[in-house]
Order: sequence, then structure tokens, then C-alpha cells
Amino acid sequence: MMIVAKSLSEFDSARRALEGATVGFVPTMGALHQGHASLIVKAVRECDAVVISDFVNPTQFNNKNDFNTYPRTLDDDCALVEPLGVKILFAPRVVDIYPEGSGLDSKVFDLGGLDMYGEGPRRPGHFNGMAQVVTRLFDIVRPDRAYFGEKDYQQLAIIEYFTKNLGYPIEIVRCPIARAENGLALSSRNKLLSKEAFEAAPHIYNTISKVHGMKGVISVSDAIEKIVSMIDSNPLFKTEYVEIVDAATLRPVTMWDEAPALRLSCAVYAGPVRLIDNIAV
Ligand code: PAJ
Repeated sequence: MMIVAKSLSEFDSARRALEGATVGFVPTMGALHQGHASLIVKAVRECDAVVISDFVNPTQFNNKNDFNTYPRTLDDDCALVEPLGVKILFAPRVVDIYPEGSGLDSKVFDLGGLDMYGEGPRRPGHFNGMAQVVTRLFDIVRPDRAYFGEKDYQQLAIIEYFTKNLGYPIEIVRCPIARAENGLALSSRNKLLSKEAFEAAPHIYNTISKVHGMKGVISVSDAIEKIVSMIDSNPLFKTEYVEIVDAATLRPVTMWDEAPALRLSCAVYAGPVRLIDNIAV
């Protein structure tokens, strides 16, 4: 039986029953789909007990409308994850995470400069707000391992950085991107797409995958330019950015051999909906 804990005190009493077990943790913002499920399945396989959190964190939204329209589907979420063997679903209230007067929602984190490119400048405050909630959840949940998806590659790199930097005894486990058969990266925001945009959205992954044929053949900047114009050739999409970065430092590169591993990441608008994707190059 899965316990649904809707406050800190409900969570604490459920957590006490897991003392001594190896606890795996999968933090989420709900609106769960098979991408989240892939992390949970891996955690259940690797740990004695799995806790997931379902909390739309207000401090990581730099856009109020994005926060307000973010899908909230707690009942469906419970139905999806209970059969996977989750022990506790923690769906706290905002006051449980950010008690009034605690200052926890204004804490500033050292992100090691990993927020300088990519999503960082385009979503001011996003990664600091993400660090606020993830560290707060780490303190409450006290997991041995925490599972994050490469779907949010920059987020994952930043979490690895502050987990180590702050001395948390938590192993961060990287999980591959779960995609639909047509290549579209699964995302809670896909629910917000128009039917037309949803059907066309695999265009993004199909286009960024073309980087493999460009690597070492044309320059990095020409490859980026080509990919942007190919994505934007479909009138349903408008690229915000395409970057090719050092997979470790997340700094944009100018040469293909500048770093041992590269990552291409992008953000693309489909009408009002902002989609992100990334691939190893
Ligand atoms: P959310 O977007 O709900 O994602 C929760 C976790 O699921 C993240 O680690 C994310 O990378 C992973 N995920 C989402 N879609 C995925 C996919 N298609 N394949 C693999 N993994 C996928 O990321 C957040 O929430 C929040 O920022 C959070 C870390 C919970 C802090 O609020």
C-alpha cells in the first residue's frame, strides 16, 4: 500500500517506518507520465523503498502564467505510481516546504557557474529556485539515492554539483530520456500542446538528431544555424536557442574536439508552450 502524505507531519510518520532501508527518491512536479515512471521503475529495482514527491515548486517558475497553467493531476498521479511499488507519495503544501519566515524561499545557492548558459539566462532564478526545493526535499526525505532524468540535462548537472558541494551523502543517479516511439521527449508540458503541434512535435528531435551527420563535417556554428533554420522551417515552431556545449562544464564550444563529450540542447516554442530537448553529440 502506498501512503499519500499531504503534510510534513504525515510524511515524517510514514518515513519513520522506513528507518534502516535504502531509500530511493524521485522528486517530481506531478502530471506524471511514462518518463517519470521510467525513473521510478529504476529506483524501485535498485532500492528497498521508494519515495516520490509531487510538488509544483513556485520558486522555480520565472513566469507566473507557466506556474498557473502547469498541469496538476494528483489523483491520476497516484493511480500511475502505486502499481509501480512506490512506498510514499509526498504531496506537500507550500507552507510545508517554505514555512513562513523561514527564509527558505530566498536562500541563494552556489551553482558552480553551471547556470551561465542554456536555460540559465533565459529563465532567471529558475535554477536557484530548483536548488531551494531539491535541498529542502533532501533534508526532509533523507534518501540514500536520488533519481533525475537527462531530459533536464542542465538541472541534473547542477544537482550533482550542489549535492557534492554541500556534502549531502546522497548518490545522484542519472536516467536516460524516455521518448515516445516517434522520438518526442515525454514531458508534462506535452499535454498543453494543440493537437496539431503535438503531432508535429517529433520534428524537434528528428532535426537535432541530424547533428550526428554534421559533426566534424561543417563548423559548430554552421551546424547550429542549420538546425535552427530547419526547426523553424515548420511554422508551428520557433527556436529560442540551440547550443552545443561541453557536457561537463555546460559551456558552449566553438570546435567539435574542444571537449571529450558534447551535448546539444535546445528550447523551442510551439505556440505558447516551451519545449526543451537535448542529445549527446
Ligand atoms: P519534473 O519536470 O516533474 O521532472 C521530474 C523528473 O523527471 C526530473 O528528474 C526530470 O528530468 C525527469 N523526467 C521528466 N521527463 C522525462 C523524460 N522524458 N525522460 C526521463 N526523465 C524525465 O524536474 C522537475 O520536475 C523539477 O525541477 C524538480 C526536480 C522536481 C524540482 O522541482
